[in-house]
Amino acid sequence: MTEMTLLATDTIAEPVARLVKRVRLSRGTEVTLTDDGEARLTRNGTTAGIGRPSAWTSKVLRRLQSESLPEDELQSQALAAGGPAGLFRWVENLRRLDSTGMVERSLTHAGELVSSVRPMGTGPSDKPPAFDPTARQRLSRFTVIQVVDGALVAGHPASHLSVELGPAAVEMLAHLRDWISWEEIGKSVSALPGSAIRAMLDHLARAAAIEQTNTAGGSEPEGSAIQWNSFDWWLHSRSRNQRVVAGWGATYPGRDRFDKLDPIPEPYLGPMLELPVPDLSEVARSGSALVTVMERRRSLRKHDDEHPMDVVQLGEFLYRTARTRGLVPTADGVDVLLDRPYPAGGSVHELETYVLVRHCDGVAAGLWHYQGREHRLVRVAELDGPTQDMLTAGQTAALMDTPPQLMLIVAARFGRLMWKYETIAYALILKHVGVLLNNFYLVATDMGLAPTAIGSGDALSFAEATGRDRMAEGSVGEFVLGSLPAGHTPQYMTQWGA
Ligand SMILES: Cc1cc2nc3c(=O)[nH]c(=O)nc-3n(C[C@H](O)[C@H](O)[C@H](O)COP(=O)(O)O)c2cc1C
Repeated sequence: MTEMTLLATDTIAEPVARLVKRVRLSRGTEVTLTDDGEARLTRNGTTAGIGRPSAWTSKVLRRLQSESLPEDELQSQALAAGGPAGLFRWVENLRRLDSTGMVERSLTHAGELVSSVRPMGTGPSDKPPAFDPTARQRLSRFTVIQVVDGALVAGHPASHLSVELGPAAVEMLAHLRDWISWEEIGKSVSALPGSAIRAMLDHLARAAAIEQTNTAGGSEPEGSAIQWNSFDWWLHSRSRNQRVVAGWGATYPGRDRFDKLDPIPEPYLGPMLELPVPDLSEVARSGSALVTVMERRRSLRKHDDEHPMDVVQLGEFLYRTARTRGLVPTADGVDVLLDRPYPAGGSVHELETYVLVRHCDGVAAGLWHYQGREHRLVRVAELDGPTQDMLTAGQTAALMDTPPQLMLIVAARFGRLMWKYETIAYALILKHVGVLLNNFYLVATDMGLAPTAIGSGDALSFAEATGRDRMAEGSVGEFVLGSLPAGHTPQYMTQWGA
């Protein structure tokens, strides 16, 4: 550290300008120096390296972990410390960190926060249109404002970015309930200069929290988003889009916050009635195959690649679990319902089954869609890129040593249910997934196959693979399936300490 304690960052001056753009590292970003002097930044499991930082850069990065500093001032210092090349490196480093969700940019006016773009998720997420000063804006009907760690934060379900709102921003939001231009807002919010209003709208646009229009009458058509209400989209995106959330899956978020519950619930104090225990072997002997299948059912996480599943088994499996047995017009002629081997609310049946094949005799590797009425598969995509990502994610989630032979992906055509059911549509979809997964388990068990349900999945990879609008049809459930090696016994989650 010979270089420059000379440009100690603690000497950074507060700029005289009243409107200041500031920057800091996103909350939770950790900066470490490796043994060979390289800087590593880590946040939510994402790591970014920026090579060997100068003494000035190291010092600034450490400081930016906990406070925001004026961008202009930092650039002047980078120039003074390292010349034009040093400035270029600093800007480039910041850009790279920005793309991994590690940079938070804020705007202050007269020392008070106006707004700040805070990466809440790991990103990246869809890039919404940039703020257009010639357009009119309004808050999206999907934008939600909530208190996070003592700050007021506006977010949209499609974005990993949120906007922290200062008091002046909150005042401005009230004007965004309907289409309005930044100049019109400026006439009402006199405490802020127009440049601050524009910068704040730019923050909201980057986080997808506002819509923009150049047409005189306002609204553009919503596309398939019209099917959705805000609460359902939030739940869907938080459980199916890993990039908009900070943590994902079994991270034990409650461990340091509250005591875990006993596995057995506290008993009621009323009188008890002991129930007779059935003799299951007797039930089986008297003809119920169901009891045998249910008692044999296990999650089995090993597939026999020497003797893989074949097209005959796959056909039987899909026929017994997911085919469409018939179409039934409603008496009032309003809809046509479906009859399938599993029950579904209103018999509307919004779920579609896809088969991602790696190794199955008689079926080429790749993603296939099951046409349940005709009982056939239609080719959708090769096994590469996003489908390969899905298969690898399935292997990891199912704790398997080798990639699964098959992965069933359950998708929902959201509009089927959302057209009919208010408020409960998305919840119904998740219930239907559970019903279908149990069908998969029981039929796989009966057929001597190796089944395991998966609790996590990535709707973005699925949309990439199918090319379908992910707000119209999106993946909502996953299940791995394959041939069972002789003598394989189930391994329980507890064996992994899970
Ligand atoms: C909705 C659902 C999600 C599951 N998610 C996973 C998963 O992501 N990874 C996994 O290895 N097992 C998963 N399982 C399987 C459970 O771990 C398994 O059912 C449980 O350990 C009990 O074992 P058993 O199925 O052999 O009775 C899931 C099961 C269900 C029903």
